[in-house]
Amino acid sequence: MKPNILKETPRRNLALSPTPFHKLENISREMHCNLYCKRDDLTGFAFGGNKVRKMEYLIADAIEKQTDTIVTSGAYQSNFCRITAAAGALAGIDVHLVLGGTREPVMTGNFLLSNKLGARIHKVQSDRWEDWEADRQALADTFRNRGKIVYEMPIGGSVPLGAFGYVDAFLEMLNDFKNHGIKQTHIFFASSSGGTQAGLLNGKWLTGWSGKIIGIGTAKSGGKLAYEVNLLAQETAKLLNTIAVPGDIFVDDAYVGESYGIPTQECEEAIQYFAQKEGIFLDRVYSGKAAAGVLDYIKSGKVKNDEDVVFIHTGGNVELFA
Ligand SMILES: Cc1ncc(COP(=O)(O)O)c(C=O)c1O
Repeated sequence: MKPNILKETPRRNLALSPTPFHKLENISREMHCNLYCKRDDLTGFAFGGNKVRKMEYLIADAIEKQTDTIVTSGAYQSNFCRITAAAGALAGIDVHLVLGGTREPVMTGNFLLSNKLGARIHKVQSDRWEDWEADRQALADTFRNRGKIVYEMPIGGSVPLGAFGYVDAFLEMLNDFKNHGIKQTHIFFASSSGGTQAGLLNGKWLTGWSGKIIGIGTAKSGGKLAYEVNLLAQETAKLLNTIAVPGDIFVDDAYVGESYGIPTQECEEAIQYFAQKEGIFLDRVYSGKAAAGVLDYIKSGKVKNDEDVVFIHTGGNVELFA
């Protein structure tokens, strides 16, 4: 059941939802499985992806607080920063992006789009997320000292309000499952800052759904990500009055490869496979690695052939042009 708390929380409609949900017919036939795809790459706003759902609650909160300046951070090719820049533009709020990396950025992909959207860019010469967040906080303090009303968003918008967007997505998917006669299933998706996973888990806890939610890690060690998902899921559960079940948190970091943002062989293969079998584009940082994980689970029999499997395509394909 959709709790009142979720219904009563301010939300600015940005996503074209419900997003499509369909079987991947060619892949399913070839791999003798039932693989479905939730097309959150098609949320629409500013080239879509999972961050649009999170942003619906975050930007509404920023507007309610009469914010005039949003500050957030991420990698040069951050999808979340692109969506923040777009939402800020729509709401008439200045957006400052603290973007990090050790290589000089090239004006392509998300970096290009964030610039086009009018966001102000502040560079950090570091690959460490901690450094980006520290600079973001320092910049926010500078603006506050100048009398600005600042709204800070952490990497990936992974705070309880952001996670609310994936409680919505989960409830939407329950409807998709009903329409497709799916009873019990495994849900896979790319997990990185944990907000998507925390939201899905809260959807499960709210509804008592019995399937399994498996985050395919794309950035950090499985232990660290599971720890962060647990914290955020618990915080979100408190707001929603649900009971968190830490034993439901599954993170698999076997497909990260060398590190965040460095493509793997299986990821490249998954990108080609999805493109050539289904006409669906994945990216090299998130959805390609997650798809590599799903395909491996199916191939290696970690999920059985007669089980329904759902892959949430969280978007990110702008990165293909980076
Ligand atoms: C395309 C894409 N997929 C998945 C994720 C992971 O989502 P989360 O950060 O909520 O774990 C991200 C986050 O940056 C993303 O941009």
